[in-house]
Amino acid sequence: MIILGIETSCDETAISIIDGSGSLEKGFEIQVRGDKTLSQIELHKQYGGVFPNVAKREHSRNLTPLLKTVLEEAGFGIFKSQLSIFKETEEKLREILNREPELLEQFLEFIPTIEKPPIDAIAVTEGPGLEPCLWTGINLARALSLVWDIPIVPVNHMEGHIFSSLLRRENMTTVNYSLLTIHFPALALLISGGHTELVLIKDWFDYEIIGQTRDDAVGEAFDKVARLLGLPYPGGPEISRLAEQRRESKVKGQKLKVEGIQLPRPMLHSGDYDFSFSGIKTSVLYLIKKLPELTDDIKKEIALEFENAVTEVLIAKTKRAMGQYGAQALLLGGGVVANKHIRRAFEGLAESDGRPILLNGKFLHIPELNLTTDNALMIAVAGFLRSREKRAGTEPLRAQGNMRLG
Ligand code: KG4
Ligand code: ZN
Repeated sequence: MIILGIETSCDETAISIIDGSGSLEKGFEIQVRGDKTLSQIELHKQYGGVFPNVAKREHSRNLTPLLKTVLEEAGFGIFKSQLSIFKETEEKLREILNREPELLEQFLEFIPTIEKPPIDAIAVTEGPGLEPCLWTGINLARALSLVWDIPIVPVNHMEGHIFSSLLRRENMTTVNYSLLTIHFPALALLISGGHTELVLIKDWFDYEIIGQTRDDAVGEAFDKVARLLGLPYPGGPEISRLAEQRRESKVKGQKLKVEGIQLPRPMLHSGDYDFSFSGIKTSVLYLIKKLPELTDDIKKEIALEFENAVTEVLIAKTKRAMGQYGAQALLLGGGVVANKHIRRAFEGLAESDGRPILLNGKFLHIPELNLTTDNALMIAVAGFLRSREKRAGTEPLRAQGNMRLG
């Protein structure tokens, strides 16, 4: 099955084309035919965060050129002498893309210049995410579905992150992935700019959220603390960089003038699987107010302590949930999984844990770095599995900003 995946839930515009084969019993093979992600980070940096309408316009502008590139990469950009679109179809397209004027104009120009590609289904993120952004991807999917007469498979972005942790390839030069099989129940820890969730996976496509953040998501907390420290957006990688530097200098025995910087570990002993990160951010704010000056060394120390606090809470709750639910595998997903310290901590947990479920990291599944951030490959894979297993939803397609798993 050839699947075109579209992802526009936040600030990455991404399109992917995969060729998937296999079954749940035999396992799945995924060949990537084309895959591109355009990050809008540089644009949003100047505002210190993502404004939905700015992001939406950028998606709208970039989707057609991106589609063209990925179709060409997949060998599907076959030129045909330009034919005009039937009047009736054009009117429908104008209706579908009414709110995406940039996309509409480029689409009407581009689509008549290529042959219909041999794509079996279009997978598109319908939620969760920023609704104006989600609509852009959904409307592109609807427009393509109309002109090429191909079905749409709506995908939950978080399910995409779950599958991203199961994609493995021999080395970074091949485009052939296999999807690891897992035993159930499994547990997924999803940590990104918009989400922090512990998800119990009872079976394929069967989810229950057992814990989530009550306020800020982990990535959001990283970004907000970074802002307090005067670091650019997105703050996650910046905090991580400073924390790593401080860790190294500590190993070398370097001491700070200001010692004793300590942050809370919120809800560490709450007895449930919920999280709360806004309190750590507030503690950082008060700490900074009390300090006579915010030197680079102090920034590093705060970054380190913040990263340690967040990691400790994530590890403790996940470990307990693994035990309580008898989880056979742990899957990590989301942008924050790019964090070196968090990756190492979970790898350490896998090695130190005596129980067979996590022995030697065998049942710990961490996505490769380039699949931690939002991408369309994971959306195409989720769409492929859902259509192959006849589990595609039948409800009308619409953007669902607060869509939940399960
Ligand atoms: O999954 P993602 O790309 O987008 C959302 O769906 O939210 O996650 C983006 C988040 C941002 O908050 C960013 O600061 C964080 O992931 N992030 C990191 C790191 N790299 C990205 N957080 C901590 N350490 C990192 N190395
Ligand atoms: Zn995401």
